Amino acid sequence: MSKTTSRASDPNPIVREVYDELGALLDRGDDAFVEEGPTLLSEAIERDGFFENVTTDPAAPDEYTREKVIGDPGEHVIRFMEWPPGYTLCPHEHHGRPCFEVLVDGHLVVTDLERTRVGDGKYTFEVIDSQVTRPGEAAVVDPRENEIHAVYSPVRSRSLHVYPDDHWRAFGYELVDGDADVYERREFQLRDPDAARDCDGE
Ligand SMILES: [Fe+2]
Repeated sequence: MSKTTSRASDPNPIVREVYDELGALLDRGDDAFVEEGPTLLSEAIERDGFFENVTTDPAAPDEYTREKVIGDPGEHVIRFMEWPPGYTLCPHEHHGRPCFEVLVDGHLVVTDLERTRVGDGKYTFEVIDSQVTRPGEAAVVDPRENEIHAVYSPVRSRSLHVYPDDHWRAFGYELVDGDADVYERREFQLRDPDAARDCDGE
């Protein structure tokens, strides 16, 4: 069950309400979470007062930010990302659980990728599909259907992301020096869960 005991850091009651509703969806399972959660959050951000005390750190030219909006200990979390213009988040994996984002402003492209192993820990990628999100629209990332994706923001963009749990570790793929097409899989460790870092599983 979702806990509602840690209210000290709630930014406002509207955020708490949608957070608890998302927790109730997760209690019903991951399918309910990704099928009904995006609409729930899209509607919530239209309500007066949702963004009271909900802010992003300004993103520097070469990194995105991931401010925690709300998240009870051991429970799901809502994060507010800001993406600088022309930013690419390299291919990365999530953690076997689905998540989703709702775009607040700007424009984001989420591209699903399929990997082919070409050596020890080395892969090439093919594009399977791309989702473009505009303000108010949602994109679901479901590792049960496809594990790896990349993100591109052509202009400064902000998005709310909901994760079933709040991880510190992730796997990402970096281009191998001297090879135009081959990526190397590596683990990333976040020193600070609120710090921006490439390939951290956004
Ligand atoms: Fe991601």
